[in-house]
Amino acid sequence: MCGIVAYVGEKEATPIILKGLKRLEYRGYDSAGIALLNGGLNVYKKKGKVSDLETSIQGLDLKGTAGIGHTRWATHGEPNDRNAHPHFSENKSMAIIHNGIVENYAVLKEDLIRKGHTFISDTDSEVFIHFIEEVQNKNNCPLEEAVRLALSKVVGAYAIVILCKDNPEQLIAARKGSPLVIGVGEGEYYVASDATPIIEYTKEVVYLNDYEIAVINKNKQLSIRNIEDQPTTPYIQSLDMELDSIEKGGYEHFMLKEIFEQPKSIKDCMRGRVLAQEGILKLGGINQYLNKLIHADRIVIVACGTSWHAGLVAEYIFEDLARIPVEVEYASEFRYRNPVIKEGDVVIAISQSGETADTLAAIELAKSKGAIIMGVCNVVGSSIARATHEGAYLHAGPEIGVASTKAFTAQVTVLSMIAIIVAKNKGTITESKYMELLYALDSLPAKVERALKQNDKIKEIAATFKDATNFLYLGRGCNFPVALEGALKLKEISYIHAEGYPAAEMKHGPIALIDQEMPVLFIATKDNSYEKVVSNIQEVRARKGRVIAVVTEGDTHIKDMAEFVIEVPSTHEILEPLLSVIPLQLLSYHIAVMRGCNVDQPRNLAKSVTVE
Ligand code: G6P
Repeated sequence: MCGIVAYVGEKEATPIILKGLKRLEYRGYDSAGIALLNGGLNVYKKKGKVSDLETSIQGLDLKGTAGIGHTRWATHGEPNDRNAHPHFSENKSMAIIHNGIVENYAVLKEDLIRKGHTFISDTDSEVFIHFIEEVQNKNNCPLEEAVRLALSKVVGAYAIVILCKDNPEQLIAARKGSPLVIGVGEGEYYVASDATPIIEYTKEVVYLNDYEIAVINKNKQLSIRNIEDQPTTPYIQSLDMELDSIEKGGYEHFMLKEIFEQPKSIKDCMRGRVLAQEGILKLGGINQYLNKLIHADRIVIVACGTSWHAGLVAEYIFEDLARIPVEVEYASEFRYRNPVIKEGDVVIAISQSGETADTLAAIELAKSKGAIIMGVCNVVGSSIARATHEGAYLHAGPEIGVASTKAFTAQVTVLSMIAIIVAKNKGTITESKYMELLYALDSLPAKVERALKQNDKIKEIAATFKDATNFLYLGRGCNFPVALEGALKLKEISYIHAEGYPAAEMKHGPIALIDQEMPVLFIATKDNSYEKVVSNIQEVRARKGRVIAVVTEGDTHIKDMAEFVIEVPSTHEILEPLLSVIPLQLLSYHIAVMRGCNVDQPRNLAKSVTVE
């Protein structure tokens, strides 16, 4: 969703901000803009891509060493030039960029209009800066104090940066609920909604906490106070991220790069944690509450999107290995449902970005009811990682493509590791099964590599089905969530309507859709439900549906039944999703490319959904 980039220092701000906004494009947006101190305080903004903004400002004199930039994902008001950020205050001495939503903006706006303010846009963000200005005028105080006072009246979520004509060497930033990172350079500062725009300039960063306000002056120490006006000492940490991890590295799209990175990302995820030869499996981050997990009556998993699918896979794994009942909840439903959570219940929150607003709210709710929250996140230092009691990082590296791929496989890997640790400690698996699982984990990266070798074949299949209008994905057991994930991937990036179903459930509805036009993708690997899935394939064939089957290497039986088969290596049954999902990712990728879709930034979608 919305992206923030700001700079104050000695360098030219515009190129830094524009480049940074491009790095944030992956988050999803529909307009872009910058405000710059170049003589006066000027705002330049445009509907569309950052490149459209660049074209519109070409030839202008944009020299200035302090500026703020924004990519907007429309919430209040349609995407157009007028609603794009930055927004001016009434007297145009200040400009704001804002991520999040001001929930009480209508009341504030009405009051401000009564006081003579006029508004150019339909946004809550413009109200925000007018309100701050009003508070400053009323109290005749420095800007940071006005921001502090104003924030105590604002309901909602925000990450803001303000640039003011009267303080040309200063930025004011604040956060609640929306992430903000400050990069600390030599006498200069960068501010962004995640570290990607900052990494090429400095690795020293400060993550702002909720309710903190930062006064950022070039050549001065960073000063942070909270909303109660207490000073806090900035905690500077070093980013463990390389520039090439956020660049395409020769691939046409980030999504393809990330699909092909999976042997490595799964390996990185297990590095130092799975030591199969020694019979060791350890996850340092979950030790403190491991006993709670072992003795839990049930586990509740909260997540959204692809992470929710990883949660569904985990349900099969936990129940099978650790014999703990698991409920997998959409965070957005859970948070508004008055859920039954007891003191000491264990909740696992899964989130790639660690910033998903609904998941964060679900965590806060469960915490308030006394639950222990474990996080499974990719982004280090993210809001969810910090809101949980403990957890395990994915270590999958930055995921830039909006459609999640390597994060899903890393999530399933981490969740499998947790389940195996619990099962071993609980005694619900034998020592030999434990060792078998460890070796199965250990051999995964090589098997994923083998699964990726089917790429050319999958490309051919994509060419056959690229004009389909519907797709059905069917699987059973822990491959049912994979069917859901395959359908989601296709929908997200190719805009083809696709549904995932448990294969047996097909008879209760989707079978009515099957005719000679309908591609049906079966995940038919050799596991417990193999024979049953074979019967389901026959049912589809009998109705002339076009069958694509993901099968275990060497399966000749299904080859005779399906129009296309894609082979994946065999593995332990509970780890099958890690291999069976690979062809589904590739299929949706190739179909989307062939349909001319913007794979990395699909329409209307955001990578990090920071509003509910
Ligand atoms: C968005 C993204 C999805 C992601 C979901 C949950 O919808 O486009 O790829 O699965 O959010 O995000 P999270 O960061 O919490 O895993």
